[in-house]
Amino acid sequence: MTMPRFPATRFQGSKRKILPEIAKLLETENCKSIIDLYSGSGIVSLLFRYLGKTVLANDYLKYNRNTAELFLTCSKHDFSSLNPEADLDFLLQNSGANYRGLVSEGFSGIYFKDYENAEIDNFCHNIKEYSGFKKALYIYAVGQALIKKRPYNLFHRANLDMRLKDVVRSFGNAKTWETSIADHALKCIKELALLPDLGSTDNHAMNIDTANLELLPKSYDVVYMDPPYINGKSVPVNYSNFYHFLEGLCDYELFSKGDMRYPHKPIVNLESAWHKRDASLAKVARICEHFSNSTLIMSYRSDGTPAPEEIAEVMRGCRRNVEVHSAGEYQYALSRKTDNEEIFIIARS
Ligand SMILES: C[S@@+](CC[C@H](N)C(=O)[O-])C[C@H]1O[C@@H](n2cnc3c(N)ncnc32)[C@H](O)[C@@H]1O
Repeated sequence: MTMPRFPATRFQGSKRKILPEIAKLLETENCKSIIDLYSGSGIVSLLFRYLGKTVLANDYLKYNRNTAELFLTCSKHDFSSLNPEADLDFLLQNSGANYRGLVSEGFSGIYFKDYENAEIDNFCHNIKEYSGFKKALYIYAVGQALIKKRPYNLFHRANLDMRLKDVVRSFGNAKTWETSIADHALKCIKELALLPDLGSTDNHAMNIDTANLELLPKSYDVVYMDPPYINGKSVPVNYSNFYHFLEGLCDYELFSKGDMRYPHKPIVNLESAWHKRDASLAKVARICEHFSNSTLIMSYRSDGTPAPEEIAEVMRGCRRNVEVHSAGEYQYALSRKTDNEEIFIIARS
């Protein structure tokens, strides 16, 4: 299958590289509707839409919900009358109103330079003038710009000094860090605008913590799940800690709630069952139970904790037929000691 060029993303754990494998897997599933239960960068939801599915995306981070909503509902027509240069100039530079700059006040010296913090404050005030597609688009694009301008593309450390140190760098980040928020955002918008028409916009995005599964509908044919995982060194990936800062683009007041106990002042701190081994296994069982009529497709890694076979066992205990595949090859070989491989765990009811 030839696929369009999906937007680039620096989101940790994005499945962009294995989109063709996910598409191939779905070819053999009888599936008209699908939930992307942990949507992250939104790129898999975008693929599902491209494949003609009715899609519901979900993520407990507001910024991720916003991206998924944008990807699932934007149309070519939305871009036709857009003037992103002028809009971004207004959003980032217009400081006419007399307001408190929560980012300038609370985050000086932590993530961005002072003039960039002022642009973020301007953005958060001016974006209130927009709604619908334009609001979602600019929150997405400015968020992507902020990710690109961060060392490691994350917000887990107060490490602006990495950008400021006057050293000769052996890596090519300095140029990316110093590119303006507006230029990065423009590039992002242009990439998205290049996508072909993606068809139906009758899709939705939710912002539910899967601790409250009962809030999610049970009526979808397939539930695709790509939760955070605990890696081979037993370190859980905490997305809330990695991307908390972007939540402020969706809810400005959060910038006044940075947790002073930590140098990086996280503005959101969400726990997840997927940060602990036993809680993860209990969550797998709950998901099997809640979506009792849906096929589950789980993206996972061969070195994850709990081990893939432990997850498969819990699914079998919930009366599911379970297969474990390598992403790409048909047979996942338990005996092969590949230390870190993308896999699919498929559980049919
Ligand atoms: C591995 S990422 C998903 C990556 C995504 N498939 C992609 O290609 O970009 C896992 C996502 O799960 C979300 N998440 C973690 N715990 C959650 C929970 N309890 N409820 C809902 N979302 C959660 C995180 O915010 C993160 O975006």
